[in-house]
Amino acid sequence: MRPIAPLGRRRVAVTAVDDVGAYRVLRVADRSGPLPAAGQFYMLATVQRWGGGGDERPYLPRAFSFLSAGDGELRFMFEDVGPGTHRLGELVAGDELWITGPLGAGFRPPGDHRRALLAGGGIGIPPLAAWASELGSRPLALLGFRDGEHAAGAALIEDQARVRVATDDGSLGHHGLVTELLAAELARDGRCVVYSCGPPRMLEAVRALCAEHDVPAQLALEAGMACGFGACYGCVVALRDGGYARLCVDGPVLDAERLQPLAEDAH
Ligand SMILES: Cc1cc2nc3c(=O)[nH]c(=O)nc-3n(C[C@H](O)[C@H](O)[C@H](O)COP(=O)(O)OP(=O)(O)OC[C@H]3O[C@@H](n4cnc5c(N)ncnc54)[C@H](O)[C@@H]3O)c2cc1C
Ligand code: FES
Repeated sequence: MRPIAPLGRRRVAVTAVDDVGAYRVLRVADRSGPLPAAGQFYMLATVQRWGGGGDERPYLPRAFSFLSAGDGELRFMFEDVGPGTHRLGELVAGDELWITGPLGAGFRPPGDHRRALLAGGGIGIPPLAAWASELGSRPLALLGFRDGEHAAGAALIEDQARVRVATDDGSLGHHGLVTELLAAELARDGRCVVYSCGPPRMLEAVRALCAEHDVPAQLALEAGMACGFGACYGCVVALRDGGYARLCVDGPVLDAERLQPLAEDAH
């Protein structure tokens, strides 16, 4: 059974803010919410200055996976890519957030005597770190980043997983794509389930590689989300059987074999 969010949004306080390479990590106190399952997410909005101003943005809450949870605290990680993440990046300890969650369906254990193999990129770290922590077996995590500054984010999962890094510019670890590390690992030992989160192009490469090697994969997908609880159909992805899945209630984690090839411009 997935943990279910209490009805309505909760008002919570930021307790600390940390910078890790190119990323910002927010700690918030959430003493009344249930413990989330890895891969679930929350809708976040600041209590102060979240739309209603000059250009009305960011206005809608934004979806974020949790990085870790426990002892009444949630941690979220993000990079400033637009109005919502920019506003979140201005928060300091003592500021307040509206949160709704945990929402959606997370990762499922490998079973079938397979090992868990994690593959992610950039801002895809949070659900993978939470999953590695839940598994407790220090799985191998293959992580791809743009450059060394972003690769510093790998520190956020190093306590939970054995990390191998790839960077686009060769500044750290393997010079190239994380999917090159994944291809080598699948060729070495394909008795695994791949758990993945990252940019659409990377997820599509992971989906195709796993299909080619006949390895099951669970992908934590992203889409722009307006409501977060199944009402607006703004977050659908196309399935191979001709139907659609709403990422906020059927996902965000979906079996790769159910998916049509992911469009590169999808988010
Ligand atoms: C289930 C889920 C979990 C997520 N977890 C995290 C997380 O842990 N950390 C994090 O930083 N972000 C996460 N995201 C993505 C985050 O919700 C978006 O990046 C958010 O829209 C940013 O808001 P913004 O106002 O800053 O930028 P926006 O103005 O909304 O977008 C800025 C740019 O990012 C693109 N974009 C917007 N939404 C997405 C998206 N969902 N995926 C890819 N590109 C997008 C836009 O096309 C635009 O180019 C998650 C999304 C989902 C659906
Ligand atoms: S975000 Fe509204 S249905 Fe998924």
